[in-house]
Parts: sequence; structure tokens; C-alpha cells
Amino acid sequence: MTILPRGGAARFSRRASSRAPVLRPALHRVHAAATTESLTITTPDDWHLHVRDSEKIADVVPFTARVFARALIMPNLNPPVRTVADARQYRDQILSAVPEGVSFAPQMTLYLTDNTSPADIVDAAKSGFVVGCKLYPAGATTNSDLGVTDIAKIYPALRAMAEHGLVLEVHGEVTHASVDMFDREKVFLEEVLGGLVAGKSAVPGLKIVMEHITTAEAVAFCEDAPATVAATITPQHVLYNRNAMLVGGIRPHLYCLPILKREKHRAAVALAAMSGNPKFFLGTDSAPHPRGTCWGFPKSDSRCLQPLCACLSAILVTLTSTGNSYKYITRRMFAHTSYERGLTRLTLFFYTSQGAKESACGCAGVFSAHAALPFYASAFEKEGKLDKLQGFASHYGADFYGVPRNAGTVTLVKKNWTVPQTYAFGNDVVVPFFAGEIVEWQVEGQSI
Ligand code: DOR
Ligand code: ZN
Repeated sequence: MTILPRGGAARFSRRASSRAPVLRPALHRVHAAATTESLTITTPDDWHLHVRDSEKIADVVPFTARVFARALIMPNLNPPVRTVADARQYRDQILSAVPEGVSFAPQMTLYLTDNTSPADIVDAAKSGFVVGCKLYPAGATTNSDLGVTDIAKIYPALRAMAEHGLVLEVHGEVTHASVDMFDREKVFLEEVLGGLVAGKSAVPGLKIVMEHITTAEAVAFCEDAPATVAATITPQHVLYNRNAMLVGGIRPHLYCLPILKREKHRAAVALAAMSGNPKFFLGTDSAPHPRGTCWGFPKSDSRCLQPLCACLSAILVTLTSTGNSYKYITRRMFAHTSYERGLTRLTLFFYTSQGAKESACGCAGVFSAHAALPFYASAFEKEGKLDKLQGFASHYGADFYGVPRNAGTVTLVKKNWTVPQTYAFGNDVVVPFFAGEIVEWQVEGQSI
């Protein structure tokens, strides 16, 4: 790793800026002043990434592929990626979205269900491109309805994973209504993960990644666990506590699962990320969701047809609730108009837009792929820990997964830039992490 000091052979000089600091001062203890202009590290990997499917893939994959050599691809599509055949097809879609001349290797995962069999696991291990299986407790998060209802149901699959060298990636939250939203990770450790790692029902040799940890308890659990247990850490859980999401108004674009926690937890997670302990490594959990506008036009724009769509959508919801099929209704509503196709698409779009970020029931996920490495660099720099970034971003994950560290390098340069308010995302837009705010680092050679 090369860290070039200010006044050294820096390739870029720092631009003076009169704009607001990157991090909200009330939320972060900002220690060391910047001492570095440029940082070259081994090409990193992102060990937790959502890239969605259909036309949306092409809008998000390039952000990751241009910086990271590999990414662990989450399988929570609708329907989920449950078999090697699904994973192969999904991998092909992802590869076709990688820009020309860029080398990027998606590391695929399967979605565990109550019915995943040891034979599915053997197939996955033989594929050569599936490296793990994701445990979503049913109902815990986006597209988890087909997830696991009881850990006991997947023991045969887990034993096969241990035997065939597949890693278990865990969304570590319980889903009982009686458990407070902010305690779901902690209770999961007590009720589920403890047993899986060390109890009578432990599966010897099974490698487990505690995904996107958010609490001091999860940090301690991981530290105390055997070397077969590691954890990924996202930029939002290093940079923000729950005040950022809730004080002064709700910020839906900071809502993710597991939800941001209080400051003591953020501090513990940040400390773990910057500790140099190889059990903690980079996994962005970049999870784009459409904002929920008409093809990117905000509600204030006269081109936004949302009032019309919302009205049609309400009519449809009412009619379908009386037992008519959606197809029947749209056919009846639009059969005799020359606008049939357009209107049907429009209403469909809004009928399904409950999956949007800005809606009455906004979904969980922070999109951070556009500047993932700079976000971590800013956080590490503020704590005077830039020297720990390379291990966290580029070495420990590869070591844990048992793949070679990447051969190339990327260079981060200290250069302010403003994150756009939105990026294209299928027929909508996605609001990125730090939208409209300044980031102090960028990856050399990346245009914004
Ligand atoms: O915030 C999240 N978003 N957490 C998850 O576990 C899933 C993800 C998504 O797929 O949107
Ligand atoms: Zn995720």
C-alpha cells in the first residue's frame, strides 16, 4: 500500500473548498486532519452487493466493476436465485452489464429456503462460480418471504456446505413481532447464531459471515468466535448513527436493514472496521431501490403523471380487492382506447411502486456503489486509520473466502466532488448515499 503525504509525490492536489464538511459534525468525532493526498491499495472486493435484475443491472453494475475486481452478489431477486441454473443465468446478466475492457468477476450466492437440499449444495460447489449461500430469515428484509422459517430446517444443507466448502452468509436478525426493531440483531446472536457457531448444534467447519453488522454485540460476538466466523461492514453503518435518519425528519434513503443504531454501536462497528482485525472486511450492501417517480420526473415536475397514475392505481386496488383479477380489470378499462398499452404500463408501474423508496411504505436499502471506496476512505481518514483501509477493503475478505488477493491496484485521490442527486435506474432513478453532498475522496480515473 502506498500512502502519499501532502507535499510528497501526490498526483493530485487538494482543492480548497468553502462547502460544508462531508460528515455531519454532530454525528462524528472528527480527529486527525487530513495528512494524505493519495492512497494506492490492492484492488478491492465488495463482499456484499445487490445489483437487482432486468434493465436496472446495467445502471448499477458498472459502478462496482470499475473499482472492485470481485463482488459477492446477493440472491434476493423476485423470484430468488435458488439453484445453480438461476445463478448461472444471473451471472450472465451481470457480466453483460460490465463495461468493455473492465475485468470483474461476480461471486454468486444461492438463496437458502426451507427446501434447499444437500444435492443443491453439491451442485453449487461444483459450479465453480457459486461461493456461498445466503440465509435470510423469512420476512426479515427485501424479498425474504421465501427465506428460512426455522434454522433447524436447513441443517442438512448447512452440513453439506461445510463439507463442500461453501460459505454461509447470514442476515442476522430475528423477525418476531415481539422483538424491537433495534434489538433484532442482538437477539439473533443469542437465539440463533450462538447455537450455530458453538452450541450442541454447531456445524463443524462451516464458514460463516455475519453480514452488515450494526451493533457492539455483533462486533464482540465476531471477535470471540472461532476463526471460521467473520463479518462485513457497510459504509453507512460506519458513518452514521440513527439520528442521521430520524432527527429533523425521516430520511428514507438512509433506511436500511439492519437499521442504523445508536452512536455507541456505530462507534464500535467503525472501530472494528479500522482495527486491522482480519475478521472484519468490506461489504457495502449497496442496495438500490427506485425512488418511486414517473420515469425520473419528480412530483413537482409537470411531466410527472403521478396524480393520474395514483388515481388509476387506487381504482385498481379497490377493484382487485373485490375479487376481480388485475388482468381482467385492465383489459376492461383500456380495451377500447387507443392508449391501452401506455396506460396499462403506467398503471402497472404505479401499482407495483410500493417497492419504491419514497412511498407510504418505503423499502430498505442504501445505494452506495457509486462511491463505495471513497466513503470508507473518508471514514478511515477521519479516524487517522487510512493505513488500515487496504487490509479491510482488499485483503481480509479474499483471505477468508480462500481466493487469491487481487493483483492490481487502485488509487484514491483526495479531491472534493459533489454526489449527484440521482442516478438513472431502469425506468426510474435511484437516490445515492450522500446525494448532493461533498465527498472528499475519489478513485483515480473515475469520472463522476
Ligand atoms: O437494507 C437492506 N436492503 N437490507 C437487506 O438486507 C436487503 C437489502 C435489499 O435487498 O434491498
Ligand atoms: Zn444486503
